[in-house]
Amino acid sequence: MEKKNIDWGSLGFAYMPTDKRYVSNYKDGKWDDGALIDDPVVHINESAGVLQYAQTVFEGLKAYTTEDGHIVAFRPDMNAERLEASALRLQIPPFPKDRFMEAVKEVVAANEAYVPPYGSGASLYLRPFIFGSDPVLGVAPAKEYQFRILCTPVGPYFKGGAKPITIRVCDFDRAAPHGTGHIKAGLNYAMSLYAITDAHNQGYDENMYLDSATRTKVEETGGANFLFVTKDNKVVTPKSDTILPSITRRSLVYVAKEYLGLEVEEREVLFEEVKDFAECGLCGTAAVISPVGKIVDHGKEICMPSGMSEMGPVLKKLYETLTGIQQGKIKAPEGWIQVI
Ligand code: PLP
Ligand code: COI
Repeated sequence: MEKKNIDWGSLGFAYMPTDKRYVSNYKDGKWDDGALIDDPVVHINESAGVLQYAQTVFEGLKAYTTEDGHIVAFRPDMNAERLEASALRLQIPPFPKDRFMEAVKEVVAANEAYVPPYGSGASLYLRPFIFGSDPVLGVAPAKEYQFRILCTPVGPYFKGGAKPITIRVCDFDRAAPHGTGHIKAGLNYAMSLYAITDAHNQGYDENMYLDSATRTKVEETGGANFLFVTKDNKVVTPKSDTILPSITRRSLVYVAKEYLGLEVEEREVLFEEVKDFAECGLCGTAAVISPVGKIVDHGKEICMPSGMSEMGPVLKKLYETLTGIQQGKIKAPEGWIQVI
């Protein structure tokens, strides 16, 4: 298979149309057989549920070329399960897990020419999503839906790759108690757009959201969970009902304990504690692990001891082990790697 002529090393995180996308439509209470199609444009009614009331949920996962030349997807079963949970919360009919897994395989195989080569630092990002496609006017769930997986080759989420970023404590809230912060719904991202644009305008790379009920606890950023490392090398990560249960974070907790023998605490993290940590990073499919060098709280700077030039030593070990597993250099736990 001849690869596309793409400068893999200079890719950022942006959409590029690829040859095929997987589509299945839901009508009269069932999903149709689904197919790979060529058209990147979606044709839907002007009053579709997704357009009027944001009835849409999505996922994000990556496929990689391994050292020995296979193409693999990382834990797609976890994305299938989370998509189901997200769908149920927005009255969207879930897409069956076995079909999700099959669709991932089909769409990656059909776009093999876009899967970045081993060692390029890039990967193929898959974006599965479901949206209400038939007209609604009163506030109600749609009756028809489309499930689609698009894929696109990507590089690092933050400009500058593994360089530490600067984030700020955000005055806007991301999620309400008993709201939708724990699901991957477009609505959570729509309401973060003002906050992220404002952060960028003020010179920050991301927002640190605090819990909206008390504004004392660290939640997450707009697109990633937090990882902290204590001065005695314990990994600490916030536990909250209003953050997205990151698959990367759950994988890293396992890697930290089982591969690196580190102690891990998944618990409430007070903002007050942040100044005492040695390292801070963001973790997610897009972010992988992105180091945070500085956190600014209304003008007051917290400079992480790991500094602004590189990732701290513990996060670096976690990063190398996780990416080693994803690229087939380190033996993966059972079931983590799906060969395409
Ligand atoms: N938190 C939010 C708000 C996200 O959008 C993402 C991205 O998916 C994550 C966390 C990280 O989750 P995952 O590791 O499953 O990609
Ligand atoms: C992902 O990491 O897959 C996400 O969906 C995060 C998004 C902000 C790009």
